Amino acid sequence: MNILILGGGGREHSLAWAAMQNPKCDRLIVAPGNAGIAAIAECAALDIVDGTRVVEFAVINSIDFVIVGPEAPLAAGVADALRAAGILCFGPSAAAARLETSKKFTKEVCDAAGIPTAMWCSFTDAAAARDYIEAVGTPRVIKADGLAAGKGVVVAMDDAAALSAIDEMFAGAFGDAGAEVVIEDFMEGEEASFFVLCDGETVLPIGTAQDHKRIGEGDTGPNTGGMGAYSPAPILTERVAEAALREIIRPTVAEMARRGTPYQGVLYAGLMIEDGAPSLVEYNVRFGDPECQALMMRLGAQALDLMLACAEGRLGEMQVNWADDHAICVVMATKGYPGAYETGSTIAGLETLPEDSHHMVFHAGTAKRDGRIVANGGRVLNVTARGADLAEAHSRVYAMIDRIDWPGGIWRRDIGWRALGSSE
Ligand code: GLY
Repeated sequence: MNILILGGGGREHSLAWAAMQNPKCDRLIVAPGNAGIAAIAECAALDIVDGTRVVEFAVINSIDFVIVGPEAPLAAGVADALRAAGILCFGPSAAAARLETSKKFTKEVCDAAGIPTAMWCSFTDAAAARDYIEAVGTPRVIKADGLAAGKGVVVAMDDAAALSAIDEMFAGAFGDAGAEVVIEDFMEGEEASFFVLCDGETVLPIGTAQDHKRIGEGDTGPNTGGMGAYSPAPILTERVAEAALREIIRPTVAEMARRGTPYQGVLYAGLMIEDGAPSLVEYNVRFGDPECQALMMRLGAQALDLMLACAEGRLGEMQVNWADDHAICVVMATKGYPGAYETGSTIAGLETLPEDSHHMVFHAGTAKRDGRIVANGGRVLNVTARGADLAEAHSRVYAMIDRIDWPGGIWRRDIGWRALGSSE
């Protein structure tokens, strides 16, 4: 089978790594890919948000199956274009991707299906949104309705922060994404991520994770795209997961089918859990990054079979072969990230690291120059390890990091601290 993966980050490196281990994969192309992906698959320059070009590329290269990594091509209707051309594709239609591309749409789905989530209202002008905050006070969560590259959510603990977020969004900080703003009640609890596959009807859980969004140890400092993740998430016990499936995920999938926009692909539910009761924070219509890297480390080759069955509407006949294992992914970023940073610093020592079913370095933002691997972005390497328990995965991952020589890099040494029971 010839497979095309769209995307070029650590998430797509881990998807490629899992797919390559499956004997069904004869040829793998990743577009655009990156320096790490190039070591295991072909990389191709391709405008991945242009459905017509993606279809042309897939036809020319006799692609049998396309896996869409990021949300942008899904929002742009690339999965629709592929399916219309008769090409098997893993990922939702643009209409179903609204679960990520419109916060208001998701809230309306929740209301229609009686799904537990924070109370909300939406605004199309700043004055009305400001009046609302002045009337109800804070804390509140202010969200740009559309896609904002992970930056469109502000947890405002006081009125000044809420009003400044509203002004920024309506002033165009996130372009059209901020033309409508959703304001939600603040939810107490602990956040965790639940990943399920859906084929329009059947829902199959494939793992849980927690990530660390802040740059600093102890979860301090500015938000980032994610500095690390671990799987499973201890707070998402079997009982909580059952409640989330029964009260949140299955009603969502049924409501999407009822609306004539069945959901097919991975559904990533961000949950807030308080006293064992889950509420929906948000949906994403793709794998989390870096959560995917930890999930792929645990699922291995079967990930391809599961994604194929999902795309073919056969999830009902599948089951996940769980190992009793844990994985951690630590993100190494360029100094300065998430603010301004320079690219081009040399990363040495990667060739000395093991690459096997317990250890992998997934590349997120690297390039190869004169035979050297150099940093080519903010989040650069995703060092990932698996162990029988979280402590073993943790010691393996940091032993790998200690062998990487990158003076231009920063990373947190406490990924997984909450689950490990202490902040180091
Ligand atoms: N790790 C958070 C995300 O992928 O959105």
